[in-house]
Amino acid sequence: MLEELWAFLLFLCLGVCPSLATCPPCCLCASDMISCSGRNLSIVPSDLPGYATLLDLSHNALTVLQTPDWISRPFDRLATLVVSRNSISHIKVDAFTAMPHLLHLDLSFNQLIALNKSIFAGMEELKELLLFGNEIVQINTGAFSNLYSLQNNVVLSGAKLKLCLYCKGYLFFTLITQRLQG
Ligand SMILES: *[C@@H]1O[C@H](CO)[C@@H](O)[C@H](O)[C@H]1NC(C)=O
Ligand SMILES: *[C@@H]1O[C@H](CO)[C@@H](O)[C@H](O)[C@H]1NC(C)=O
Repeated sequence: MLEELWAFLLFLCLGVCPSLATCPPCCLCASDMISCSGRNLSIVPSDLPGYATLLDLSHNALTVLQTPDWISRPFDRLATLVVSRNSISHIKVDAFTAMPHLLHLDLSFNQLIALNKSIFAGMEELKELLLFGNEIVQINTGAFSNLYSLQNNVVLSGAKLKLCLYCKGYLFFTLITQRLQG
C-alpha cells in the first residue's frame, strides 16, 4: 500500500512537478518577473524560479553578496536584478556569475564603501550599473574589468571617491561627471 502510494506520488511528481511554477510565499511571481521586495529578507529564498528575467529584491536586509551563499541556483535568463535599498556592504569576487546575461544591475542605496577586484566578473553583457546612494570611496584595480558592454552607464552620483587605482578613461570621466551632477 505504502509502496503504491510512493509510486503514485513519484509518478505525479515526474509528470507535473517540473512544469509547476513555484513561487516562494514571500514573493510575487507574474510570468517571468519575480518581486520579493520589502520583506526584510536577510537571505534570498532558495526556491526562486530559475527562469526569471527580472528579480526585485529591493527594500530588504541583504548585507553580503557572496557566491554561492547568496543565490542558490543559476539564473540563465535573468536580465534585470534590483537589490537597491538593502544593507549591502560587501560584494565578493564572482558574486554575479550565476547570472551571466544580466543587462541591468541596480545596487543603489546600499552601504558599499569599496569595490574590490573581480566583483563584477563574467558580466560581459551588462549595460547599466546603478551605484548611487552608496558611500563608495575606493574602487580597486580590476573592479570594472571585462564589463565590455557597460560603456558610460555607471551611475555613481554622490560618491566621495578618494582612490581610483585603475579606471578606464571613459569610466573615470563618467564617475567625475556623475559626481559633479550628483
Ligand atoms: C527584520 O528582521 C530582523 C531579523 O532578521 C528582525 O530583528 C527585525 O525586527 C525585522 N524587522 C522588521 C521590520 O520586521
Ligand atoms: C576587499 O578585499 C579585501 C581583501 O580580500 C577584504 O579584506 C575587504 O573586506 C574587501 N572589501 C569589501 C568591501 O568587500
